[in-house]
Amino acid sequence: MVDAPEIKHGLEGVYFTESGICKVDGINGRLYYCGYSIETLAGNSNFEEVCYLLLNERLPSASELSVFRKSLASERDLPDEVVMVIEKLAKSSDEMDVLRSAVSMLAFSDKDAADDTEPSNMRKSIRLISKIASIVAATGSVRAGRGYVRPDPSMGHIENFLYMLNGSKPKDEHVKILDTMFLLHAEHSSNASTFSGIVTASTLSDMHSAVTSAIGTLKGPLHGGADEAALQMMREIGRPEHTVKYIEEALAGKKKIMGFGHRVYKTYDPRARIIKKRLEELQGSADEEVRNLTNIALAAEKLMVDRIGKSHGIWPNVDFFSGPVYTDLGIDIYLFTPIFAASRIPGWCAHIIQYLRENKLIRPLEYYNGTLDREYVPIDKR
Ligand code: SDX
Repeated sequence: MVDAPEIKHGLEGVYFTESGICKVDGINGRLYYCGYSIETLAGNSNFEEVCYLLLNERLPSASELSVFRKSLASERDLPDEVVMVIEKLAKSSDEMDVLRSAVSMLAFSDKDAADDTEPSNMRKSIRLISKIASIVAATGSVRAGRGYVRPDPSMGHIENFLYMLNGSKPKDEHVKILDTMFLLHAEHSSNASTFSGIVTASTLSDMHSAVTSAIGTLKGPLHGGADEAALQMMREIGRPEHTVKYIEEALAGKKKIMGFGHRVYKTYDPRARIIKKRLEELQGSADEEVRNLTNIALAAEKLMVDRIGKSHGIWPNVDFFSGPVYTDLGIDIYLFTPIFAASRIPGWCAHIIQYLRENKLIRPLEYYNGTLDREYVPIDKR
């Protein structure tokens, strides 16, 4: 009997390629986009500039950024058939299913859909960055009964997103904090949804199919869906003084606490630190609901860090504090994961384009542990 090979379940610890787009230092809790620390970018850059950085692996000049922003603004409007699907489905379907279906439909009206050269994939990346934000905003607006709000090309990416979502010009402070949230979620190396998009692209399928794969993957509560699940948990806890009992019971029942733990970070997720700080800065102006959610989150964080943080390497991740921040912006829970997708699309596209430069079909092995040459018994003899 041949010795069984070592199985890396879930591909844990396996390097499948190399890239200069993102460094995730799980031991020291550091994150870099193309060499710039996430703290530097969160403090000095913005989502549109980071989209350019991820796609080009360098920061733009002022004129390059101006051209890039104009390209993004020109691609926001949605084809009529996509608006129709959103209007038909948004009130009765899971928002990630609406997004996945709408992105699939974008391919039918994209003149570059079948052209997978790099310049074409770059053009499609810009369209997808703009249109996925519009799809998410339109889904929220339709669900709230406001119908499709056409984009305003004079606004920036995040300002226009909030305008299409709420039907009114957003407050500058809301634009600024949501821009930071998009920037923090824009990229994270070979996470499950990015890997899923790369696997699809590696077969020489197309950009829309690859991004549709990524959206389907991000939906899961072990990945992008954790932000919604974490807020649901905070709402179930209800009051800060109920937090310890709730979490202790959940841990005793071997339940996973959403928004904690990470395959790579074995210390505090640096993005969670920044989001927590933004959340604490909001407390002065936040309403009672957000203040209550924040106090529950802080109580849960303290318990988890003391109980299993240091001992088990299970710390808050990017999804834990996001919910109360989005709630303060008036964003409903069902849009949290779609917003994660609207943030991550530049990272997905950057990795797909880069991998295709030296493409190799992704096809890992599965160790066969069954029997061989079994005798076929006719059905009347079984
Ligand atoms: C994201 O990969 C990325 O980069 C993703 C992401 C990105 O930007 O793309 O960072 C975004 O997806 C963040 C993660 C969001 N998911 C959650 O918050 C869901 C809750 N977290 C867990 O499901 C878990 O921590 C994972 C899935 C994130 C990572 O788990 P692993 O590495 O597969 O480890 P595991 O599930 O095998 O857990 C190891 C042990 C287990 O205990 P034992 O069975 O060994 O006794 O740790 C325990 C787990 O039960 N554990 C937890 C826990 N996470 C792990 N226990 C309680 N609560 C948790 N959250």
